[in-house]
Amino acid sequence: MTKPKFYVTTPIYYINDVPHVGHAYSTIAADVLARYWRGKLGDSNVFLLTGTDENSKKTIEAAKAVGQEIQEYTDQTAKKWEAIWKQLGITNNGFIRTTEPAHVKAVQDVILKIHEAGDIEKGVYEGPYCFKCEAFYREDELIDGCCPIHKTEVEHLKEENYFFKLSKYQDQLKQYITDNPHFVEPESRRNEVSAFIDRGLEDVSISRASQKWGIKLPFDESQIIYVWFDALINYLTGVGYPDDKYKEFWPANVHIVGKDIIKFHCIIWPAMLMSAGLELPQKVFAHGFFTIDGEKISKSLGNAIDPVELANKYGNDALRYFLLREIPFGADGDFSRERFKIVYETELGNKLGNLVTRTAAMLNKYCDGSFEKINPAKPLALEDDIEKLKFEQYLQKIFVRIEELNTSIEENKPWELVKTEPGKVKDVLSGIVSELVELSKWLEPVIPEATAKIQKTFMGGKVDSSVGILFPRVEE
Ligand code: ME8
Ligand code: MG
Repeated sequence: MTKPKFYVTTPIYYINDVPHVGHAYSTIAADVLARYWRGKLGDSNVFLLTGTDENSKKTIEAAKAVGQEIQEYTDQTAKKWEAIWKQLGITNNGFIRTTEPAHVKAVQDVILKIHEAGDIEKGVYEGPYCFKCEAFYREDELIDGCCPIHKTEVEHLKEENYFFKLSKYQDQLKQYITDNPHFVEPESRRNEVSAFIDRGLEDVSISRASQKWGIKLPFDESQIIYVWFDALINYLTGVGYPDDKYKEFWPANVHIVGKDIIKFHCIIWPAMLMSAGLELPQKVFAHGFFTIDGEKISKSLGNAIDPVELANKYGNDALRYFLLREIPFGADGDFSRERFKIVYETELGNKLGNLVTRTAAMLNKYCDGSFEKINPAKPLALEDDIEKLKFEQYLQKIFVRIEELNTSIEENKPWELVKTEPGKVKDVLSGIVSELVELSKWLEPVIPEATAKIQKTFMGGKVDSSVGILFPRVEE
């Protein structure tokens, strides 16, 4: 029996700029899962991996644009990403950079395994390529001759490269997806992947003769490895591959990705692993895009929103809560600063924050701050929602309960009870406290700073009023 563990990953991001709110979305979702599973399995049995994808042509161009050596640029930029995740309260256990020697070693090891399996051969690649996606396209996938994601012109590449025999895995992949209905989620993405396989898989070029920056092909050092082939392997490197210790966490329980990169994660990656004789991840969950006026938020489109600015203004918890509450995980939705403010004020401030403040204040006023420790009358059972990544539904259920508690205060009217039946006030308020403590356990993975305050307030048998207001008003 292997010990219970949970390994969750985020995409490793390109470092031609700092993170925007879309990157924060994937990373926060993964962090929420990691925090939840740490509560269930213990800290040492959970691993959250994020990192930076550095061997792309974008890196070369970004370094050039600021007049830096590429290595110097990547060192600086990777540090920035790491620091920003830390500032946003992300509890990643590893931070993988694809320029690390350990990663180079892992990539070469996997490529040699694929080579030994007879799945790499030489050929000529000719066709459309989007450097923003670092992806090959077929003519029929282009929209008006442009990249379907970036809407910008593609380049025409012609090179002698090495190819991975993806076509060989067509049937095996199809079978795998049929046999493992939870491998790709949500279902709409799974159907998309299935349909893509049904259209027929073509072999993929996995090396470049024209680019020098990157990881060398171990069996032909005149070529570097195609950036996606290198990047996907980070999920192995991050937990120690090729050292046997990687098996402590591999296979990953879930790769969190955006819907823009499912072909890589649900087709190329599993085929690479099949070829190398390695286990497949248990799940790839592809969430939707945050858009602004219907357009994907992205560096390339120039409409990026800075998550750090939002967090500085409203707090890390508010950013986490808003992103996961605003749209169902898997769907697309518009990002609006007005909505952010409203959600902050009404849900976090008025519903949750006020409930805590007024319960504590009434206990202080009517009961000398003391309350009884009792078990919650209505414990919640939300494992299924969070374990299936239904974050929005999960939070919605918690807030229904918060509203019920607010209503019960209105109905019980402790301020009148204290005159008519003073003996009952403490019971009523102690009941609220017990439900609040219960709720705060469920909310902890999402808003850990606020729940630490709730728990501190009601930890002993007496109210601790030192923590202050949970979600203070934010002045414009
Ligand atoms: O694709 N809404 O990196 P990348 C939601 N290096 N999520 C968004 C988003 C948006 N508007 N914009 C970006 C790469 N994301 C590769 C990945 S993994 C082995 C290599 C998130 O910097 C989402 O997770 O372009 C998306 O898949 C990812 O950022 C793309 O980040
Ligand atoms: Mg991208």
